[in-house]
Amino acid sequence: MHDSLLLFGATGDLAQRYLFPSLLHLLRDRLLPDEFRVIAIARSEHDDASFRDWLRERLGDDYDSSLVDELLRRIQYVPVDLGDAEAMAASLSRFSDRPAVSYLSTPPNLFASACRGLKAAGLLEAPSRLVLEKPIGHDLASAQEIDATLKSALDESRIFRIDHYLGKAPVQNLLALRLGNTLLEATWERRWIESVDIIVAETAGVDGREGYYADYGALRDMVQNHMLQLLALIAMEPPAAMDTDSIRDEKRKVLRALRPMTAADAAADSVRGRYGPGVVDGQAVQGFKHGGHEDVETFVGLRAWIDNWRWAGVPFRLVTGKRMPSRTTEVVVTFKPVTHWLFGPGERKRARANQLRVRLQPEETIELGLMGSLAASEWAANELQPMSLDLAMLPPKRRIAYERLMIDALKGDQTLFVRDDEVEAAWRWIDSVSAAWREAGTPVRDYPAGSWGPAEAQPFLPRTLTTHNGRKS
Ligand code: BG6
Repeated sequence: MHDSLLLFGATGDLAQRYLFPSLLHLLRDRLLPDEFRVIAIARSEHDDASFRDWLRERLGDDYDSSLVDELLRRIQYVPVDLGDAEAMAASLSRFSDRPAVSYLSTPPNLFASACRGLKAAGLLEAPSRLVLEKPIGHDLASAQEIDATLKSALDESRIFRIDHYLGKAPVQNLLALRLGNTLLEATWERRWIESVDIIVAETAGVDGREGYYADYGALRDMVQNHMLQLLALIAMEPPAAMDTDSIRDEKRKVLRALRPMTAADAAADSVRGRYGPGVVDGQAVQGFKHGGHEDVETFVGLRAWIDNWRWAGVPFRLVTGKRMPSRTTEVVVTFKPVTHWLFGPGERKRARANQLRVRLQPEETIELGLMGSLAASEWAANELQPMSLDLAMLPPKRRIAYERLMIDALKGDQTLFVRDDEVEAAWRWIDSVSAAWREAGTPVRDYPAGSWGPAEAQPFLPRTLTTHNGRKS
């Protein structure tokens, strides 16, 4: 396990909110190596002491102070301009004394020069590794360009592309459910499954990230990575083994089987929205400030089709939006109705399709919707009622997705990281969607903050949203 972490973007939002807290948790649980050290790197002019003070303040009072002291003792701070490869090499080469993991939590336009600087500093020599945050590029061409730069410095086996959704415990659970149960193995295909919904709804807005968002929109910010990774795990063929490349091979095949969207499909298979002023969680909030970027969506609904034998004809509805009425991340697999209905017309009205509903956020739950009969005296024996089996297993403690990913990067396990060809396959499909939008002139429709997107989004939304999270508005 490597024990030297170079964290670029150390004063950024991600580092403050997730990366340093993850390290604290790992330290608390004694999962880090004895000699573990962090080289925190950013542009700001701190020294070790002032950075540690700054970070202590950001971490707040939620943690045991001796634990925070221990983490801070392990951190050194180095101010570096990542745009200047030579300066980078000069200030960082002294850390090449040990195999390192360099983690670029920085905007992608800095990847290339950071890579050059790291290489010059001797920090990308085998067995050192490089971890990158999304977004990897803005489209297929720019992603390939970034990749070529990375490959000129180190090979794929040492490049770790983060998609933090892969570090979430319920995402692992989705795999366990799918691949560990005969019942699901037998029914996981087009003959038994009607549709799959993947929804990531956030109450938060874009606040503070307008510049980045204006270039990306919900399609590139959320669908290209997190949502397509979820889709790939749900739809891939069972891998022959649970090793890194067997799983990634299967994910790539599914991503490649996504039917490119054409301008002719755009109206039926997609909807875009942008939030205006409204009320979320009882608070009045402002609309998205697009600063003249009229063509940016904060909500997207897509119907994706996977052209292979397992999934032919099964719609995968992907919906994500900012400023929705509730935070809801879930996967809903809806099964087909029973082949021949034996019960009366009243029962038929009450009948619900079987549904597997895996919630990732805000709470982690798994429910299986079945039909049953309460055969008590007040019920006729065949009086059917929907019932819901609660299959959730509460994890011993809830972890930040980044904890698992940091440990895996330090150990060198790439299973939960995204391979170059997966990124490319995902971009290829996303590029088809944005080209279809351009060609068809797909409008960005307004929706009030605190609603489930524009009216046109209704057919894309799973019914579970109406029944569990209040009313669609
Ligand atoms: C990030 C996106 O990758 O994921 C954000 O850039 C989004 O826009 C976030 O808010 C959502 O992650 P999570 O774990 O809160 O669902």
